[in-house]
Order: sequence, then structure tokens, then C-alpha cells
Amino acid sequence: MDIRCGTDIIEVQRIKNAIEKLENKFLNEVYTKKEIEYCESKKVKKFEHYAARFAAKEAILKAISPLLKSKYDLTWLDMEILNDKEGRPYVKLNNKKISKNVEIDISLSHIKDYAVANCVAKV
Ligand SMILES: CC(C)(COP(=O)(O)OP(=O)(O)OC[C@H]1O[C@@H](n2cnc3c(N)ncnc32)[C@H](O)[C@@H]1OP(=O)(O)O)[C@@H](O)C(=O)NCCC(=O)NCCS
Repeated sequence: MDIRCGTDIIEVQRIKNAIEKLENKFLNEVYTKKEIEYCESKKVKKFEHYAARFAAKEAILKAISPLLKSKYDLTWLDMEILNDKEGRPYVKLNNKKISKNVEIDISLSHIKDYAVANCVAKV
């Protein structure tokens, strides 16, 4: 098995714009029900949390790209970012074909303007 990393940074405003312009179309294409519930619970900072999850999904794609034959192998909803009871984020891969071949860890950080994510994957 190889160890691969992936990273991504995103402007919070870009995600805020997409959510405000496309509303449910964007939300339901990119985020699972649990992710939406988590971000909405953060009230005024919710767009930071949405942006961090978007960055996380991009970082995962970079880390596991050796496993992907086409960009259609994995959808946004196949990658679910959840938090354990300490708040630590983890990834649930909702795609058995991919998940059986990979182990993933993720780390997120966000401030008012930017969100970043780092992913380490054993592929
Ligand atoms: C929780 C903590 C990581 C948040 O850091 P912060 O600088 O306020 O905020 P950041 O934007 O950098 O990070 C926020 C992200 O950290 C992640 N996070 C939260 N708790 C975490 C934990 N215990 N371990 C790893 N990551 C954690 C989450 O992904 C969160 O984003 P999300 O809510 O959108 O999922 C920070 O309080 C910390 O460093 N804690 C250290 C562990 C700790 O709390 N120890 C206390 C006993 S000494």
C-alpha cells in the first residue's frame, strides 16, 4: 500500500455564493443530510463549515486519485465528513468499490475568509 496526501484551500465566500445562488441544488449535490445538519447547527459560521467540507472532499480526491480511473468514479455524496464526539473529523466513504481499497484521515481548519483541509490516505 502507498501513502498519499492531498490538500485544498478554498475561499469561504465562494461556497457562500454557490449556496445562496443555487440553494438546494448545490447543497444536495455536494453535502449529505448529516453534513447539512452539522453545518446548519453552526448558525452564523455555517459557511466556514460548509467550505471546510468542500475543501475536504477536494483533498480526498487528490489523495486517492491513483485509485480513480475517471472523475465519475466518486460523487461528492460518496465522501461524507463527520465528526466524532470530541469534534475530530473523519471520513465515511459511501462507495464500497473505493472504500474497500483505502484508509483515510482528514484534518480541517477554517477562518472567516478561508477553509483548508489535509487528507492522508493509504491506497
Ligand atoms: C478543537 C480545535 C482543534 C479547534 O481549533 P480552532 O483553531 O479553534 O479551529 P480550526 O478552524 O483550526 O479547526 C476547526 C476544526 O477542527 C476539527 N476538530 C475539532 N475538534 C478536533 C479534535 N479534537 N481533533 C482534531 N480535529 C478537531 C474540526 O474538523 C473543526 O472543524 P469542523 O467543526 O468544521 O469539523 C482546538 O480547540 C484544539 O486545538 N484542540 C486541541 C485538542 C483539545 O481540545 N484539547 C483540549 C485538552 S488539552
